[in-house]
Amino acid sequence: MKGIVTIGRATTPDEAAALQAAGVDAIVASGFEAGGHRGSFLRAAEDSLTGTFSLVPQIADMVNVPVIAAGGIADARGVIAALTLGAEGVQIGTVFLACEESGTSLLHRQALRHKKAGHTALTRGFTGRLARGIHNRLMEELNQVGTAILPYPLQRGLVRNLATAAEAAGRSDLLPLWAGQSANVSTCTDVLAFLTSLVEEVSEIARPVMQWGAARRKRKFVNKEKKRTECPISLTKL
Ligand SMILES: Cc1cc2nc3c(=O)[nH]c(=O)nc-3n(C[C@H](O)[C@H](O)[C@H](O)COP(=O)(O)O)c2cc1C
Repeated sequence: MKGIVTIGRATTPDEAAALQAAGVDAIVASGFEAGGHRGSFLRAAEDSLTGTFSLVPQIADMVNVPVIAAGGIADARGVIAALTLGAEGVQIGTVFLACEESGTSLLHRQALRHKKAGHTALTRGFTGRLARGIHNRLMEELNQVGTAILPYPLQRGLVRNLATAAEAAGRSDLLPLWAGQSANVSTCTDVLAFLTSLVEEVSEIARPVMQWGAARRKRKFVNKEKKRTECPISLTKL
């Protein structure tokens, strides 16, 4: 035993079952709201588009390793919702892209803070793999029927060259603007401030939810019962 923790990513319940059978220590349940790529491996990415709200409870009910929810989580409400659905952790991506500390360009960060970031779509045009980003001219052109897309990672190289020129010209309409569906949920642009307020808000409320979740899991796996219990908090408190 080398003490290495392995975490797999599932975009469908079948993938979660396959990951558990392979012996991973935890599973990321990756809903289709997520920004960037998602890494489906049993079916085509286009045929693996389950949202976080549906995916997390299905996977949590099926596996006996911790589930980490990803996709569309952007503030304390999202974290609590994920814990309530059976996740034991969350993964956040898009929020951090808009923070000053992020490696994204200024044009990308500005786009993420604009209300148009509420309109995202999926494309293979950025890299050759299905990914989510803000809908702009680049995405529209690349998504046109009949547009030839190179296999990954060749398409990525092609678009990267274009992005360098677009960046220099200040043209965010021609940049690949990676983003998930909840880009507009968080307005925070400072990582420390975001995490501090997230931890404060969540820790006020998470304990009873986690205790409830743990008790529910114990009942399920020890007694093999699938009884439902009332969630002890009202989410409207947030
Ligand atoms: C720019 C970007 C690239 C990503 N690339 C990958 C990837 O190659 N493979 C993967 O499994 N997840 C990838 N992700 C997904 C993240 O790991 C994470 O699950 C996701 O961002 C969480 O959802 P959210 O963006 O709604 O917060 C990427 C996310 C972003 C924002």
